[in-house]
Amino acid sequence: MNDISPLPLCEQRNQLRKQMRAKRQALTLDEQRFAAQNIIPKSLELIEHYAAQHLAFYLPFNGEISPLPLIEKLRSIGKKIYLPVLHPFSSHQLLFLRFDDKSDLSSNRFGILEPKLDVRKVLPISELEMIFVPLVACDTQGNRLGMGGGFYDRTLSQAKHLISVGLAHQCQQLECLPLESWDEPLDYIVIGNSI
Ligand SMILES: Nc1ncnc2c1ncn2[C@@H]1O[C@H](COP(=O)(O)OP(=O)(O)OP(=O)(O)O)[C@@H](O)[C@H]1O
Ligand SMILES: [Mg+2]
Repeated sequence: MNDISPLPLCEQRNQLRKQMRAKRQALTLDEQRFAAQNIIPKSLELIEHYAAQHLAFYLPFNGEISPLPLIEKLRSIGKKIYLPVLHPFSSHQLLFLRFDDKSDLSSNRFGILEPKLDVRKVLPISELEMIFVPLVACDTQGNRLGMGGGFYDRTLSQAKHLISVGLAHQCQQLECLPLESWDEPLDYIVIGNSI
């Protein structure tokens, strides 16, 4: 007898992650550069709409859209930028550390660059106003599929005051995603067109 049952949800999500990560990594350097610039006006508009001063970002990894040109612009207008750091003791929790010219970076256990832990640079999450997050895929309703650690789902479920913005390449947006009950939707998604 043929098994015609659909793939379990976690398998569907893992297959989709694989496909969408490959698409992201297939973008050329020029397409990546264009997209990183393309997200700036819409992101600035959102930040000014909320008059937000304390903003969390990420450092690009595995073909994620780079927020670095946007971060440069934000620093030049006095905004304070923070990056996630894996919590040293609490599994799957993130801390947010100030990111400036003097930040000392090192790779974490996933190979992602993060500021070296320094308690003087930690901002309590209650003081963070907006968080810009990477994603593997998103849909048109603001739902998000990440790398599979549940880090941002945990952060967003614990900090309901945060305005969340996903940054995505055009090729990462789908009609709908296979969702789990714990997935936290994003308030906004800014799409970076790639030329
Ligand atoms: N609020 C939460 N509390 C406890 N566990 C959670 C929470 N949110 C997600 N998880 C757990 O995290 C795991 C991974 O979640 P998921 O597959 O949604 O990751 P993701 O959203 O793709 O990852 P990330 O946010 O790190 O990019 C799941 O096993 C899930 O049970
Ligand atoms: Mg999730």
